[in-house]
Amino acid sequence: MVKPLRLRQLLRLVWFRDYLLGVSEILDVEHTPGGAVLMDGNRLRDALVAELNGRITELGNPAVCLATVLVGDDKPSQIYVRNKRRKAEEAGMQSRHVELPGDVSQQELEAAVLGLASDPTVHGILVQLPLPDGLDAERVLDLLPPEKDVDGLTERSMGRLVRGRDGHVPCTPLGVMRLLERYQIATAGRSAVVIGRSTLVGLPQVLLLGRKGCDATPTLAHSRTADLAAVCREADIIVAAAGIAGLVTADFVKPGAAVLDVGISRTADGIQGDVDFDSVQAVAGAITPMPGGTGPMTIACLLENTFHAARMQGVFSVA
Ligand code: GUN
Repeated sequence: MVKPLRLRQLLRLVWFRDYLLGVSEILDVEHTPGGAVLMDGNRLRDALVAELNGRITELGNPAVCLATVLVGDDKPSQIYVRNKRRKAEEAGMQSRHVELPGDVSQQELEAAVLGLASDPTVHGILVQLPLPDGLDAERVLDLLPPEKDVDGLTERSMGRLVRGRDGHVPCTPLGVMRLLERYQIATAGRSAVVIGRSTLVGLPQVLLLGRKGCDATPTLAHSRTADLAAVCREADIIVAAAGIAGLVTADFVKPGAAVLDVGISRTADGIQGDVDFDSVQAVAGAITPMPGGTGPMTIACLLENTFHAARMQGVFSVA
């Protein structure tokens, strides 16, 4: 039986016709029970990993190497790093892994990172954060040459992003941009609200949304923004990266808006995002699941950056 459209769904159709026309060109798009497009990060990651594998094969399988550095025995960090290494291998890359005990000295850690930085067979370096207490992450990141900083986290990479120069862009906000592109979410002239001002996500996200070619009008909101719900209700695109479980509820969302969840909180009910998926999916035009949305895209973009790093370091004569 065909269910009648609810008023909210009807509004979404009328107000965002151009947006929906764009999305309908994409074949094989899944929808949530409330009718929002499901922006599936797992599928897009798999497609991007396969594409990278194809490009490396076409280029004659040159060695492209991602080095990961893991300090201590934090379980989630171990899982993240294992997934990154596994996907690097699926993309046809080599992975080098350095594991150090939680009580390693700053000097020993810096020596390990410097060794990778000066090794011409290593093209990208990822130091998994956070580091255990007592270690200074800033001093470690400062040792990464910008060409090998595939996380895009160092001052120099951030400066290159601000200055519009060639460099690596932080993986999570880049993953958000890839989801917007893949699902043909209109950005030019649209308003976007980014919640959270971290250097890992919020700040670079605002730069990416506002830069030429994307042409959105971003607002950077945070924990001290007055009437956050009202600010978000003006937005065509919401990127939630505050790390507050369930912060974004249906009343934050303009009908038809695209909502991308970057938050991760460990709660008594398990891992939760910043977006209350059940209520928001009934109002949004497009939404990321959690898990399976922006998380897998962080890995895909790490590999995209590693490929780019190898190219910057002259591994490919073409491409
Ligand atoms: N810890 C959580 N996310 C990230 C990330 O994207 N990069 C690094 N290096 N550490 C992280």
